[in-house]
Amino acid sequence: MDIHMKKIITYGTFDLFHEGHHNLLKRARALGDYLIVGVTTEYYDLQRGKLNVVDPVLKRVENVRKTGLADEIIIEDHEGQKPEDIQKLGVDIFAIGSDWAGAFDYLEQYCKVVYLERTPRISSSVLRESRYPILQLGVVGSGRIAPRFLAEAKMVSGINVRAVYNPNEESAAAFGQAHKLEAYSGSFHDLLQHVDAIYIASPHETHHLYAKQALEEGRHVLCEKPLTFTVKEARELYALAEEKDVVLMEGIKTAYCPGFMQMMNVAKSGIIGQVRDVEACFSRITAPAMREMRDEQYGGAFLEFGSYTLLPIFKLLGCGYEDVTFQTIQAPNGIDLYTKLHFRFKEGLALSKTGVGVKSEGQLVIGGTNGYILAPSPWWLTRSFEVRFEDPGRIERYSPKFLGDGLRYEIAYFVSKINGDARMSYCLTQEESIAMAGVVERFMEERRKEQR
Ligand code: CTP
Repeated sequence: MDIHMKKIITYGTFDLFHEGHHNLLKRARALGDYLIVGVTTEYYDLQRGKLNVVDPVLKRVENVRKTGLADEIIIEDHEGQKPEDIQKLGVDIFAIGSDWAGAFDYLEQYCKVVYLERTPRISSSVLRESRYPILQLGVVGSGRIAPRFLAEAKMVSGINVRAVYNPNEESAAAFGQAHKLEAYSGSFHDLLQHVDAIYIASPHETHHLYAKQALEEGRHVLCEKPLTFTVKEARELYALAEEKDVVLMEGIKTAYCPGFMQMMNVAKSGIIGQVRDVEACFSRITAPAMREMRDEQYGGAFLEFGSYTLLPIFKLLGCGYEDVTFQTIQAPNGIDLYTKLHFRFKEGLALSKTGVGVKSEGQLVIGGTNGYILAPSPWWLTRSFEVRFEDPGRIERYSPKFLGDGLRYEIAYFVSKINGDARMSYCLTQEESIAMAGVVERFMEERRKEQR
């Protein structure tokens, strides 16, 4: 007698659990005696480019459990896990919906592979769209970053870039036509009438005013860095967003990249002991004709790149530094070609280096009492980092996935903040964003003194 129990395994995200999921599990269960269901983690979904999953992993697991169809539920958290599970758990059949036909034929070397008919006309994506109307967004400014934003927004579901604004209406029209947007305008007020949210990608000094007006009219705001030049203005904007119950996010894309989040968590996990030192550098030799080099008031290295370098410093050492000193190399027009900031914290030290006219190694080094983390350039995209120790032979390497130019993570996070319950951001907290405005404020004060 064959006493072998036939085991089936299937995997999925199972977001906003629906009838299609239920049918799939029923069909899979009917193939044998014991059904194992793998549910993906948020991190794995981000890594494989599935953005905008609404339900957290525990809720998705609970929904699968409630069907009573799964004999065992496991978590899927990395690429290449399926063959491991199949062998480890003694699986006979791998089953998955027919939308994946052919994609898992390689698993035939371990078990039988079955593609099950998919339930027509229902999916998590369809539910997400019907539950949350597509967010209509307007881009403020049509400079260098705007086309990149448009390309990346196309990779995120639930958002449509509808319109563009530029005070120079001709530029707005040219941009709108080139990118086939539904509307363009030379009036900011007019733009707000067309959209639910705006992305501010205009010159630094205009951020505060545009953000304020949009928030006052109840629009969500994603604002390029730096959000403002003073703590007072930053506080005022966050308070206004809270009052109007809308999302205000500062667009420091690094903060939302999965690899960067992982690196911060590894740094805080205790593996390198206590973090005592952070050194972050971002430099790009910039042509003299560019705005960063010419704008005497708002150009220069620190205002351009300082948000990136301050980010890991505040994330790892906190926002309450005891002292900061600035050293700069200035161009004849007064802009900073290269700026070093030395921070002293109660528990550590930090160094920020930014350059537009001086090049240095763009790396991030996080020093701890037991080891250190080294992230090579471009660490702000965090495609790789290493954990190193006193023993030079012991190195742990991480190479998180990073898709496109990274803006999609920030955009996806913005959309899910708007659709979700929590208005607060954990990737970049209000406190961190306000603390950055504080450093910018001190830096600008010093610069004004020197320029006098
Ligand atoms: N599935 C199905 N019928 C549907 C939707 C999903 O049989 N109408 C199956 C998928 O083929 C997969 C499993 O359910 O085997 C989990 O799919 P998942 O990707 O979590 O769900 P989708 O609804 O397809 O999600 P999305 O729209 O985000 O791609």
